[in-house]
Amino acid sequence: MAEAFFTEQHELIRRLAHDFAQKELTKEVLDKVEETETFPEEILNKMAKAGFFGIKIPKELGGQGADARSYVLVMEEIAKVSGVASIYVSSPNSLSGGPLLLAGNDEQKEKYLRPVVTGQKKLAFALTEPGAGSDAGSVAATAKKEGDHYVLNGRKCFITMAPLSDYAVVFAKTDVTKGNRGLSAFVLDMHGEGVSCGKPENKMGVIGCATSDIIMDNAIIPQEDRLGEEGDGFKIAMQTLNTGRLGVAAQSIGVASGCLEEAVKYARERKQFGRTIGSFQAISFMIADMATKLEAAKQLVYKAAYMMDTRQDATLNASMAKYFASEVCNEIAQKAVQIHGGYGFIKDYKIERMFRDCRVFTIYEGTSQVQQMVIGGRLLKK
Ligand code: CAA
Repeated sequence: MAEAFFTEQHELIRRLAHDFAQKELTKEVLDKVEETETFPEEILNKMAKAGFFGIKIPKELGGQGADARSYVLVMEEIAKVSGVASIYVSSPNSLSGGPLLLAGNDEQKEKYLRPVVTGQKKLAFALTEPGAGSDAGSVAATAKKEGDHYVLNGRKCFITMAPLSDYAVVFAKTDVTKGNRGLSAFVLDMHGEGVSCGKPENKMGVIGCATSDIIMDNAIIPQEDRLGEEGDGFKIAMQTLNTGRLGVAAQSIGVASGCLEEAVKYARERKQFGRTIGSFQAISFMIADMATKLEAAKQLVYKAAYMMDTRQDATLNASMAKYFASEVCNEIAQKAVQIHGGYGFIKDYKIERMFRDCRVFTIYEGTSQVQQMVIGGRLLKK
């Protein structure tokens, strides 16, 4: 059935990403990433050269001009081997590049998007605050207009890639009396005066892509770096998150596939009571359950991507895909560790890292409960 969503061209893209991941993202490289908490620039450069940072970005901006299904396939193949590597792919294609694609003018796209696609610069997406997580509309950061520029004050938190970034798309209130309709979007120069980062967070997983606060203390942003009109910020953030959620859903089926592969391999090799553990019904039923749920998750993800490609409203489907795929991924990872027994609990086996990496998938870019709010809200809307 999945084939129905894809063309031969898509399969070629999948093969390219698959071969890249197998060749470049070796266990030695990934162990080193965990140890040093740093992702090698050399591999990031190769990813940029392979076109992974601009899969969905138009060709005129240096991207590949491909569709959402191509993006999903690349994310899936990269995440199958490394969750953290897939974050570097998703960022320019969805969360950080998204607001520019949606609301940026030609100059803004040229100035901020092109260097991100080519891998010369990094861009973060800064919406969340200590007091505004799921309730994104309650952002407290302010942007006060003074002549031809804005003065920004506030603190963003849990910002993926913040300490590594050259710029951040930041959301702040230009009108504090209007709730989420008072939110506006800007491009912030991360090296500008009045901008600093908190210390990188000590995270459970996806180690090798630093996360920190961004502090804005009278940071100046020229008015030409505002995205869209004043008050457009919430819509820009929500629409961006729709593609972001598709990306997390794709990461989820990728990591889940990797976990399933490892579990099957181990169950075929490991012997106890004189036979392979896979020959016990308890293990084979667990694997059957994992494979069936993964297949269902894939169908949701591919369908949401197909809807985006055919210009249908995919808000509901992107949330369903993110919700189901991320929950199922965690279940599959947990079972894969269980199948590995004690070996699943030690770092010599890949499964230990995969188990930790996917924990955040049900949390970032909208928790499972936020996805349920979006899905329920859409269905019950009069
Ligand atoms: N797509 C398009 N439009 C949407 C939308 C969506 N997904 N969700 C809401 N909207 C629109 C609504 O249609 C509505 O439009 P109108 O005003 O024209 O009617 C408007 O936005 C306001 O909607 P709500 O009244 O539903 O807004 P709300 O304040 O009740 O919040 C919410 C709804 C779904 C809970 C939203 O706040 C939300 O998605 N919260 C989660 C935020 C989130 O995902 N944060 C993750 C940050 S990024 C990250 O995690 C990455 C990282 O780096 C770690």
